[in-house]
Amino acid sequence: MASDNGIQKLRRLKEEAKLGGGADAIAKQHEKGKLSARERLAKLLDEGSFQELDALVTHHVGDYGMDERVSLGDGVVTGYGTIHGRLTYVFAQDFTVMGGSLGQAHAAKIVKVQELAMKNGAPIIGLNDSGGARIQEGILALGGYAEIFLDNTLASGVIPQVSVIVGPSAGGAVYSPALTDFTFMVKDTSKMFITGPDVIKAVTHEDVSAEDLGGAMAHNKASGVAHFAADDEDSCFDMVRTLFSYLPQNNLEDPPAVTPKDNPARAEASLDTIVPGNPNDPYDMKQVITKVVDMGSFFEVQQHFAPNIVIGFARLDGMVVGIVANQPAAMAGVLDINASVKAARFVRFCDAFNIPIITFVDVPGFMPGVAQEHGGIIRHGAKLIYAYCEATVPKLTVITRKAYGGAYIVMSSKHIRGDFNVAWPSAEIAVMGAEGAVNIIHRKELAAAADPESLRKELVAEYKAKFANPYTAASWGYVDDVIEPSQTRATLVNALRMLQNKRDSNPPKKHGNMPL
Ligand code: HXC
Repeated sequence: MASDNGIQKLRRLKEEAKLGGGADAIAKQHEKGKLSARERLAKLLDEGSFQELDALVTHHVGDYGMDERVSLGDGVVTGYGTIHGRLTYVFAQDFTVMGGSLGQAHAAKIVKVQELAMKNGAPIIGLNDSGGARIQEGILALGGYAEIFLDNTLASGVIPQVSVIVGPSAGGAVYSPALTDFTFMVKDTSKMFITGPDVIKAVTHEDVSAEDLGGAMAHNKASGVAHFAADDEDSCFDMVRTLFSYLPQNNLEDPPAVTPKDNPARAEASLDTIVPGNPNDPYDMKQVITKVVDMGSFFEVQQHFAPNIVIGFARLDGMVVGIVANQPAAMAGVLDINASVKAARFVRFCDAFNIPIITFVDVPGFMPGVAQEHGGIIRHGAKLIYAYCEATVPKLTVITRKAYGGAYIVMSSKHIRGDFNVAWPSAEIAVMGAEGAVNIIHRKELAAAADPESLRKELVAEYKAKFANPYTAASWGYVDDVIEPSQTRATLVNALRMLQNKRDSNPPKKHGNMPL
């Protein structure tokens, strides 16, 4: 009989590897409304593009019954493929093999793709569905996590790193996603926590469900740990693919430009009337953003967290930009702790990956209050100042209405290396709002006045005429121009083209000491 040179055995092994924990375990995974690791990769990557590595890896732990639990691939599927035709590395934990728990071999597979991603300058996406450190492997499992964290840190700012939580992610395991740039969660399926509801009950006597503690909305809305919440796995993978359309492969590349479909000079007459006459009335800054950027291109990040600031990616004449915008429709657009941290991290991502930043400003100031002060608004607000000051990508700023005090400075002002700053005629650029300013500088006169209310009105009008406008700033060159709102798109497109070859750098240093 002719030898088949071992091909039958190889095929058998490959088939076995594909089944992970077996057909029954995959059926159980489906019953929970979850896809298998391979099904997930097939949906995430371009059709047929996935190439697997290390399918034949097994653990080499002999005791605690592990001899009987050898499984080809060791509970994680790793490799590479493409998204929109561009290379990306991936790993997907396979819950059907010992609950996707992470041991030495499992970790080594992840580390291998992390290092390939760094060497070859391509992003990495991790699909997390795991019971955490594999208990039977003890310190080997902990060491494995440590190596993953180290590579997460070394890769930070070099290649985009994305985490998708599609099952449990508990204990120290949560720190790999936390070290990556963007975390996606799926409603009802994903759970992230350091300690689960049972431990919490025992320690603090609090009663909380796993979903309320560490579900998708808990981390998208309350903690800010996650950046995206999807209704199901399919839409989650679609969102990851959309995010990738804005990202460069690595820190040495520019983000991918597309042939623009929208008219770069498109005037938006409705912007001329979008700012309400009463400076205390809200309007929706997202409308401003969507009317200015290429039609349909705004992709919001962290939409549920700190809604008083809006961040996201968009395109201007086909070029990728990062948007940071105060949102007057939420808490008057005030800068509080959460808004500062949210925007600071986004600014740093954009700067690391050569994405110009467009800042829309309508901010009454930093949030007053004991909770904010004791929560460290000084320290957290400083993060946003630091991020903007340090950023060397093109920085374009549009002041639509209020730009008061420290918040004026931090929101990409000229003074901190804003490259191109314009204001709308409705802009109020001053140390503080008219009412507050008049109450402070004219306190004695107001107290002594026979008719304090009419005096106050008079003084407020006088202050507004002198300070609450864009023309003083324009006279100093602190804004480059005052523009008609309808012309914002054309103005920004021209400025972005003008800044395309911008070169700027910071003094050489090991690294700064950002206020954390
Ligand atoms: C080994 C594990 C495991 C683990 C689950 N399994 N977690 N095996 N090590 N950490 C196994 C189970 O024994 C079971 O095996 C299979 O995976 C499926 O688990 P189930 O419990 O049946 O599934 P489910 O009911 O869906 O519950 C999933 C779960 C639960 C919530 C994740 O398994 C769980 O609580 N696991 C332990 C979580 C944990 O405490 N991990 C350690 C965290 S500390 P069989 O053979 O029955 O199919 C940590 C430190 C990291 O991770 C430090 C990094 C610095």
